[in-house]
Amino acid sequence: MIITVTPNISLDKTLVVDGSFEIGKTHRVKEITYVPGGKGVNASRALLGLNYKAPVIGFIGGNTGKHILSIFDHEGIVYDVVNINGETRTCYNIVDVLNNTQTEILERGPEINENDIRLLEAKIIQYISEDTIVCMGGSLPAGAPIDLYVRLVNLIKSKGGKVILDTSGESLKEGIKSKPFAIKPNKAEVEAILSIKLDTIENIKTALKYFSEKGIELSVISMGKDGLYAYNNEKYYKVTPPVLKALNAVGSGDSTVAGIALGLEQKLDITEVLRLGAAMGTANVLTLKPGEVRKEDVENILPKVEVTTI
Ligand SMILES: Nc1ncnc2c1ncn2[C@@H]1O[C@H](COP(=O)(O)OP(=O)(O)OP(=O)(O)O)[C@@H](O)[C@H]1O
Ligand SMILES: [Mg+2]
Repeated sequence: MIITVTPNISLDKTLVVDGSFEIGKTHRVKEITYVPGGKGVNASRALLGLNYKAPVIGFIGGNTGKHILSIFDHEGIVYDVVNINGETRTCYNIVDVLNNTQTEILERGPEINENDIRLLEAKIIQYISEDTIVCMGGSLPAGAPIDLYVRLVNLIKSKGGKVILDTSGESLKEGIKSKPFAIKPNKAEVEAILSIKLDTIENIKTALKYFSEKGIELSVISMGKDGLYAYNNEKYYKVTPPVLKALNAVGSGDSTVAGIALGLEQKLDITEVLRLGAAMGTANVLTLKPGEVRKEDVENILPKVEVTTI
């Protein structure tokens, strides 16, 4: 089975303001949308698009937390959450359609403690067997130790589960030390942690090889509309999606992780795992909501994805 773990779930509010957005001024909201966000949440939403119910596991608190769970119920997303003290964070995106600007205001969120982490571990462990794939990632909540992902990856591995870790910065650097089965940073995230420019095939291969030497079986670097590069079992792969008009690319990486998880769960060949990952990432750009993937789009895109060894 597939589960998703998101330690820092948020309620993402998009506020489309009337007229120009100006600092220090009062604005009226023309349109508002609320979407529960976070990497694992987006991956569960993407999997649901292919009729696969992967429970969302993470911390939830307060009225915002309750609101998120009611939206999950409405969407059909299944969940199994740890209730914490404090209020789940809200992230605001203020959209000005006149000037085409977006201004983000991100709450820090509640502080979690050691007891919350133990409850999360107890929750996760119930799902883990040798057939479990865990999509895990995103930023860490306030109060979480920098090695939270190391702890969780080690726990999941100890029961034979496979983790696809999708995070960035220090938590990725740390997380790699626990040798998750797979990682899927994007280009900028790799450039930041390895201080390398991914503008040549040689450098991309160097980065993939580096992750492999650290003990990661499947390393994937996503490159937006240019697709993916990957390394598995002594082979490098280049995966190219079809060119299409993007509506909203946010959550494409999370949808790619969902596709890779589904391919692994179905025990597909690596080329098909990568094809499904890219097709789901690409299908995500055709919808407005992060992680919203339509089955018919994936079916149309799949045969148009090119997978070659390089
Ligand atoms: N404009 C696009 N056109 C076609 N496919 C795209 C486009 N943007 C993304 N994709 C697909 O989605 C995959 C992941 O995209 P990207 O590299 O942007 O992920 P990301 O930066 O991790 O995204 P996020 O963190 O917001 O989920 C790409 O490898 C590609 O297959
Ligand atoms: Mg990403």
